[in-house]
Amino acid sequence: MKVHQVNMRLAVSCDTGSLIEMDSIAQRDSRRRAFIESAIAGAQCWIATDSDDVPLTVGYGVLNRTFFAQNFVPLVVVRDTARRRGVGIAILSELETQCRGTKLFTSTNASNAPMRGLLLRCGFRQSGRIDNLDDGDTELIFMKLATAQRAHDAA
Ligand SMILES: CC(C)(COP(=O)(O)OP(=O)(O)OC[C@H]1O[C@@H](n2cnc3c(N)ncnc32)[C@H](O)[C@@H]1OP(=O)(O)O)[C@@H](O)C(=O)NCCC(=O)NCCS
Repeated sequence: MKVHQVNMRLAVSCDTGSLIEMDSIAQRDSRRRAFIESAIAGAQCWIATDSDDVPLTVGYGVLNRTFFAQNFVPLVVVRDTARRRGVGIAILSELETQCRGTKLFTSTNASNAPMRGLLLRCGFRQSGRIDNLDDGDTELIFMKLATAQRAHDAA
């Protein structure tokens, strides 16, 4: 699949079906479906589409404050046929733009090499770890300072 341009917008309830369609976990797990529905209802879910005449959903990301009341990205998902084409970067970049405050946190399992690679590529740095959430697969916490804060720290 070619993805020439990624368009980002806030997801609305009629996007729910297309997000579930491209997310293999949502197709089999009602908790993921409920999470998507709740994020859309709370205006916390951003959808990525390609620029075709009939736009195809290529991914989504969620931004909330469920992590110690900090800006937090609990989930980024890219359609499997659209991966390694910059969609993940586009989603994280949009969530950074949307987030108010100086810090943006996210987390991923240590075993998730694609997400760890994406986070490092986007300038996140590791900011701790939590054992015993998933057996034998440490949860790694990542954080990125907002652009203004990075400029202030560098000055
Ligand atoms: C993680 C995920 C969102 C990455 O999305 P993506 O659109 O493929 O990422 P991008 O194309 O923007 O990749 C940007 C960079 O991230 C890194 N990266 C992405 N996928 C990678 C992989 N499979 N292995 C190693 N590095 C990877 C690379 O540095 C890549 O740059 P490059 O392609 O120029 O080498 C995607 O693999 C996904 O949806 N995974 C399933 C859901 C998931 O695990 N989400 C994270 C938990 S919240």
